[in-house]
Amino acid sequence: MAIPQAVPGMNDVLPREVVRWRALEDAFRSTCERYGYREVRTPVCEYTELFQRSIGEVTDIVQKEMYTFTDAGERSLTLRPEGTAGAARAALEHAVLGAEPVARWFYLGPMFRAEKPARGRFREFHQVGAECYGDDSPAVDAEAIDLAVSYLHALGISRYTVRVNSIGSAATRAAWRESLVAYFAPLRETLSPESQARLTRNPMRILDSKDPRDLAVIPQAPSVLDALSPEDRAHFDKVLAFLDALGTTYTVDPGLVRGLDYYTRTVFEIVDTSDALGAQNALGGGGRYDGLFTELSPDAHVPAVGFAMGVERLLLAAPVRPVPTRFAVAVVAAARSDETSLHAAVLALAHELRTAGVETYVDTRFKSMKSQMRRVDDLGARLVLVLGGNELARGTVTVRDMAAHLQTDVDRGNVVAHVRSLASTAESSR
Ligand code: HAM
Repeated sequence: MAIPQAVPGMNDVLPREVVRWRALEDAFRSTCERYGYREVRTPVCEYTELFQRSIGEVTDIVQKEMYTFTDAGERSLTLRPEGTAGAARAALEHAVLGAEPVARWFYLGPMFRAEKPARGRFREFHQVGAECYGDDSPAVDAEAIDLAVSYLHALGISRYTVRVNSIGSAATRAAWRESLVAYFAPLRETLSPESQARLTRNPMRILDSKDPRDLAVIPQAPSVLDALSPEDRAHFDKVLAFLDALGTTYTVDPGLVRGLDYYTRTVFEIVDTSDALGAQNALGGGGRYDGLFTELSPDAHVPAVGFAMGVERLLLAAPVRPVPTRFAVAVVAAARSDETSLHAAVLALAHELRTAGVETYVDTRFKSMKSQMRRVDDLGARLVLVLGGNELARGTVTVRDMAAHLQTDVDRGNVVAHVRSLASTAESSR
């Protein structure tokens, strides 16, 4: 029978890779906390309607990419394709903005989109994301971009471009939409089939097309920046001024529209320029979404801004740093199997070391001493503690320092303290 396989586009992360994942997650947590963001955890599954209302009915995500199913109670549920909708739902449901005027949240976890798998594009993928609720100031837009950029630096990613745009408030966008339709309608026949369909459904998305037929006419399309109201323009100018003050290099890209419908005013994307990602080079994106809360609950007026980044893509772009070897200890039994009391003494010593915070390995197969030593060598243990009949009789442990090629006898009662002092010397000299 064939070996069971994972679902295409859904990946296993094996222990040797988990080390890098954890480093990336830890860096996100600490960067966010330095900016005053606090972690939130929301379910991986929400009512389908939440995503339809927030991400938008005519987006690719809602139309083609959601993992939707009906549960035993005949409710339509969807595995979250992104984190913004669920976090906003949680903020509303728990009346968070009633308790504090501004809330800054971050999250990390799996997201699901039924896209065609490719390098950097998966069906189960992971995002790190941050959202700020209750502040309409352009300062917080700039701060969110600054947070994203600081995070990239923490990961050692230096080859990227920040693209920024403003798509204006809802009224601006309605007027711009009309001028886009007026511009593209006479060119309909020359557009790609996909853009022809978008002309009536979502004309802004034509600007995102990479099809050569569309690219031929996109540059002359009306720019959203010309359609901005004076208030939108002033907001955007301040975002850019704050980014300048922060020393963040960016490109204003009037063609940047994003694939989710909830955005208003500032939108941004961070694109990898190292070629590590190929076609899927967006490391992350986000923007302001001042209308989303009202969309979910007509009485809620909560300005919001945030972003999310793809963990798998960050891992492709981040330099692979050598993982520091840890100071590990092994305890071996100096006699062949079925010596129950000796093996019990080995397990008890390992337990004591682990309780004292020392990573300790025991080859519990308890084969020959030689075989145990081979395994310990493969694992790179720094110290090997040997217990045999002689040691048990003397009440000592033989401590072999593998790096220094030293062997000493230590009283059983002192061995944990001895190992800990060696470990702390090794840590501080690293
Ligand atoms: P998004 O642009 O759809 O925005 O996704 C953000 C990032 O998630 C992308 O730039 C990419 O790195 C990663 N990503 C998206 N789809 C995939 C995939 N199929 N495979 C691998 N990585 C992927 C959002 O999701 C918004 N919720 C961001 C946001 C937060 N806006 C405001 N707040």
